[in-house]
Amino acid sequence: MQVGIYRFNKQNLKRKDVKLLVAVKNRTIIGYILGQVHRRPRFFKTKRCGFIGELAVTEKERGKGIGKLLVDAFFDWARQKGVPYVTLFVDYRNRAGRDFWRKTGFETLMLEQRKLTDCARHRSS
Ligand SMILES: CC(C)(COP(=O)(O)OP(=O)(O)OC[C@H]1O[C@@H](n2cnc3c(N)ncnc32)[C@H](O)[C@@H]1OP(=O)(O)O)[C@@H](O)C(=O)NCCC(=O)NCCS
Repeated sequence: MQVGIYRFNKQNLKRKDVKLLVAVKNRTIIGYILGQVHRRPRFFKTKRCGFIGELAVTEKERGKGIGKLLVDAFFDWARQKGVPYVTLFVDYRNRAGRDFWRKTGFETLMLEQRKLTDCARHRSS
């Protein structure tokens, strides 16, 4: 597994609308989920919804239900917060990620479209 160092802002973690949950095995973190309650712009009927920002399980522990456990635990929290649904973004090129979210009950509502400007083309070539 690629090692990632995540510096979660401690102040953010104290916020009641932010939740970080970790999966632990033999005193080692093997997965985590980070999300929050989003306030939506006034013109929407639904004023608040849940949002999952990050989810990862260490490579060795994948395919054992840990990801789903973390999502279920996040939903327990979201339910307590009284939000009617939870949203997230997944990179369309992440086929495994898309399959995972579909299998955990998520559906695609919006598809973000992107076209590079000349500026970006020059930079990336
Ligand atoms: C996506 C990720 C969190 C899944 O975690 P996991 O612990 O392996 O998933 P689970 O074992 O709980 O699987 C839950 C369901 O998703 C399915 N699933 C999991 N990984 C899958 C994959 N690579 N391809 C297809 N289906 C997959 C499982 O088969 C299972 O379905 P089932 O309930 O019908 O058996 C993990 O692969 C990961 O950390 N990936 C890298 C980071 C990432 O892509 N995060 C999400 C992007 S937003």
